[in-house]
Amino acid sequence: MDNLDQLIQQAEGEFAAAADSAQLEQAKARYLGKSGSLTERLKGLGKLDPEARREAGAAINRVKESIERALEARRQALREAALLAQLAAEALDVTLPGRGSAAGGLHPVSRTLERIERLFGSIGFVAVDGPEIETDWHNFTALNTPENHPARSMHDTFYLEGQDEVLLRTHTSPVQVRAMQAHVARFGHLDSMPELRIIAPGRVYRVDSDATHSPMFHQVEGLWIGEKVSFADLKGVIADFLRKFFESEDLQVRFRPSFFPFTEPSAEIDVAFMSGALEGRWLEIAGCGMVHPNVLRFGGIDPERYTGFAFGMGPDRLTMLRYGVTDLRLFFEGDLRFLGQFR
Ligand code: FA5
Ligand code: MG
Repeated sequence: MDNLDQLIQQAEGEFAAAADSAQLEQAKARYLGKSGSLTERLKGLGKLDPEARREAGAAINRVKESIERALEARRQALREAALLAQLAAEALDVTLPGRGSAAGGLHPVSRTLERIERLFGSIGFVAVDGPEIETDWHNFTALNTPENHPARSMHDTFYLEGQDEVLLRTHTSPVQVRAMQAHVARFGHLDSMPELRIIAPGRVYRVDSDATHSPMFHQVEGLWIGEKVSFADLKGVIADFLRKFFESEDLQVRFRPSFFPFTEPSAEIDVAFMSGALEGRWLEIAGCGMVHPNVLRFGGIDPERYTGFAFGMGPDRLTMLRYGVTDLRLFFEGDLRFLGQFR
């Protein structure tokens, strides 16, 4: 039986010499396989008498268990070695310089819109939305601009094929009417309606294209209606807003008399570039005025009792002025080399 002990040593030696799992499985076959040396010995048991067979059988089984344990231990060792080799091969060199990640940022016009909402929010103006695909009635008629009114031709826009009643809105002023109607629906039954104070930022469309005009641009409508709202309030609110927006006490602002069918009196507001190639040049940033009585009526509000002012400003133009940009179409070309400067 001592050659059985030798067999264990021999097997252990061969297992240890196996460099990978394929070699190990071959070594295993030499002992435990169909015609492996242990299997052969088990077959030989048949020739022994029962007493000797039991003894020899038990001895062979012990050896078999030892060899199996040695096999399992070697398998485990090979697996660990393979894992370590893989980890070493895939190791990251954390001392290498990184590639850096490009930080995104808000579009400069979005920054302006946020600023406008924050500044007007601080004096009680709530931001509301209106549809970009607007009815002809809200965009023109309810703003005191009946069909065939010459003011319509200044607002050439994009129409929807096969639909006469809707168009891409040319300004945010239709939100005035929607906001008045919603306000009246909520508070019209009261003896005295609370004041209506909203701004309506959003995209608008016109057939326009030059350095200060884009076919798609933004406006922010403002509307304040109450029992004693005056043109002086309008001037105060706008002048205060502009000084805060541009963080400048000596900003040059002028109100220029103008005409809109939906306000009376009306004005346009110009601001001078403070820096850059256009320094000192005036740029129109908004139209404004006292809401026309007809528009109040279209909104369901009694013009004998309530008055209000409205304005519609161009945040794209405010962005030009703030950063000294001379062509507003650059904001909409999606060129990251340009947009990446405004962080
Ligand atoms: C209007 O659109 C009026 N709805 C403004 C208004 C509202 C007046 C309420 C009275 C009461 P206007 O067409 O001037 O007005 O446009 C207002 C502002 O939008 C302009 O001062 C300018 O800042 C901006 N704007 C107009 N057209 C363009 C354009 N194509 N691209 C960029 N900005 C524009
Ligand atoms: Mg204008």
